[in-house]
Amino acid sequence: MLEIGGDGRTWLLSGPTSSYALSLTEDDSLLHLHWGPRIELADAEELAGRPLPPYRGFESQLDGQEEYPVEGGPRFVRPALSVRTDEVRGTEWAFHAYEVEDDELRLRFTDHGLGITLHYRMRHDVVERWVTLANEGPVVEVLRADSATWTLPLREDWRLSLLHGRWAAESRLVRTDLTYGEKVIGSRRGHTGHQHLPWVALDTEGATEERGEVYGCALGWSGSWRICVAQLPDARVQITGGAGYDDSGLLRLATGESYTTPVFAGLWSDGGHGGASRAWHAYQREYVIPDADRDRPVLYNSWEATEFDISEDQQRELARRAAAMGVELFVVDDGWFGKRTSDRAGLGDWTPNPDRFPAGLKPLADDVHALGMQFGIWVEPEMVNPDSDLYRAHPDWVQFQPGRKRTELRNQLVLNLARGDVQEYLWEKLDDLLSSAPVDYVKWDFNRAFTDAGWPGEPYPQKLWVEHVHAFYKLLDRLRAAHPGVAFESCSGGGGRIDLGVMARTDQVWTSDNTDPLDRLAIQHGFSQIHPARVMAAWVTDSPNTQLNGRVSSLRLRFVSAMAGVLGVGGDLTTWSEEELAEAREWVGLYKEIRPVVQRGDLYRLRPPAGGLSAVQYVLGDEVVVLAWLQAQHYGEPAAPLRLRGLDSAESYECRETGEVHRGAVLLHHGLPTGLRGDFDATVIRLRRI
Ligand code: DGJ
Repeated sequence: MLEIGGDGRTWLLSGPTSSYALSLTEDDSLLHLHWGPRIELADAEELAGRPLPPYRGFESQLDGQEEYPVEGGPRFVRPALSVRTDEVRGTEWAFHAYEVEDDELRLRFTDHGLGITLHYRMRHDVVERWVTLANEGPVVEVLRADSATWTLPLREDWRLSLLHGRWAAESRLVRTDLTYGEKVIGSRRGHTGHQHLPWVALDTEGATEERGEVYGCALGWSGSWRICVAQLPDARVQITGGAGYDDSGLLRLATGESYTTPVFAGLWSDGGHGGASRAWHAYQREYVIPDADRDRPVLYNSWEATEFDISEDQQRELARRAAAMGVELFVVDDGWFGKRTSDRAGLGDWTPNPDRFPAGLKPLADDVHALGMQFGIWVEPEMVNPDSDLYRAHPDWVQFQPGRKRTELRNQLVLNLARGDVQEYLWEKLDDLLSSAPVDYVKWDFNRAFTDAGWPGEPYPQKLWVEHVHAFYKLLDRLRAAHPGVAFESCSGGGGRIDLGVMARTDQVWTSDNTDPLDRLAIQHGFSQIHPARVMAAWVTDSPNTQLNGRVSSLRLRFVSAMAGVLGVGGDLTTWSEEELAEAREWVGLYKEIRPVVQRGDLYRLRPPAGGLSAVQYVLGDEVVVLAWLQAQHYGEPAAPLRLRGLDSAESYECRETGEVHRGAVLLHHGLPTGLRGDFDATVIRLRRI
């Protein structure tokens, strides 16, 4: 809901529980008024009437007060917008007009020929903000154009949460007290990166998992990015974020050109971190993720089992075993195309390897379909091995600096997707591929960061950082439109490309290359702070774990860990015993039963993974699912009952596992015994309201 003050200079956006308000002063300063619990327009107008602090020689009247601090004038905070022409640097804007279309508010400003529009849209309790720049004047260089600056209310003692990581250890949650100065996270790698998910949360006054005020901000951008959380000298906190890491030049706008920033979404919740996550999840399921009400199938992927050593017969045999286990989607990973028998060759040549698939992919795809499963393949379209037909034909299609070394990582170079000819080549190859065989699913990988982001001959090569991402989005959008039955997974060496931007055009994401069931609990705990289980792919692989740490774990632990997201199986099924295959079939069957609750339900994190007992709970209507893991039990210390959440205290719940009936109030206040014991134990408990 959007309300506008009588003078047309105060705006109030409200969701079910929260409001966001801003106003324009007489001299066209756009001030932030309120972000928090729902208020009335009269409240916003009272706030708009409060005088600004006086100017002093060393302090700015505007710092910490403005919706979108531009560079220039009496401002010393980090600018959200930094531009320059041949003559001036910075912005001195004037308000032009506001517009409302559907539920979107647009505030238009101009600075000579440059039009700057701030966009606001409330979806549930999430405020979506973005900015468009439209240049009708002389050439403007945009050094930085953040999507939004968020201002928090004055409170004592803010605490900052963020997700940090690296390859195979993504999205681990850390919480620290915020102190004066700036905390900057981001990626200067060309993709979202394993190092941080583009999200921060700030809480205060002792907020907990289920109580207290939490503010969160998440960016929808799959290239380099930056979020800066600043506590200003007067203790006020502002968060500014957008595309690009540095301020050294994002793009150049000639007369008639425009640029739209990615969306930076913000959420206020007074339900603690759990309430904030549930609100983020509901928002993404309704507004971001395509077809989120359609549950994702159980998949099999042979990457860990076979790596590059694949053949049609071997894949057929794995498919047969996967189908017998109840798998619904069979995915052929890397190694099916060109000369791709290792990571040294073939990337770029998107035709089936004739030695491995003599009649192409169709015969295998048909067999997989005949087994009752969907068929999927792996691609990494943005990359090329120097040892490939594509690179031999077009060595200038990669990002490079003239006369400089072309840095290879994983023996590959990055294609310059900003080039129209590269975009057209990839479109044709991928469209042909999806037309040549009945493909239902594409795992889209990206396995190295940008290093030599040059574009010889292009007057403003920096623009490729942004244009690469736009071209990637355009390609995905075009493929989805041409092949509406195909689902896409975003992968970047595991979780290197997970953000609201890619999530709007893919059906799920590969959470991490780390498939160790215990490590995964921490990764999944962090991931769940912002994204829902509906997109979080998780595989059951071999024990001992073949990839990383050799940990030995039971099928039970591996399945219950992976069942917290979109279940997949990724082990070498030819080495699994008949007993293991039969047990796996049982788990897959159980997952299919609980899947609607896991993938579409409300998530409650009952206990974080911290060495002992940890658990999550999902609630959908009358159905409740609890997944619990016991890492290690101390002698004489039974695992504590799990206090459930989100139940009706006056109702009763029947446990499907034991047949026992429990009172809601008892489950909420005294907990549910799990029966877990020993080390590495795990369980699934289903309850139904009766
Ligand atoms: C990295 C991915 O994360 C893996 O799952 C696998 O697809 C490999 N790339 C293949 O090269």
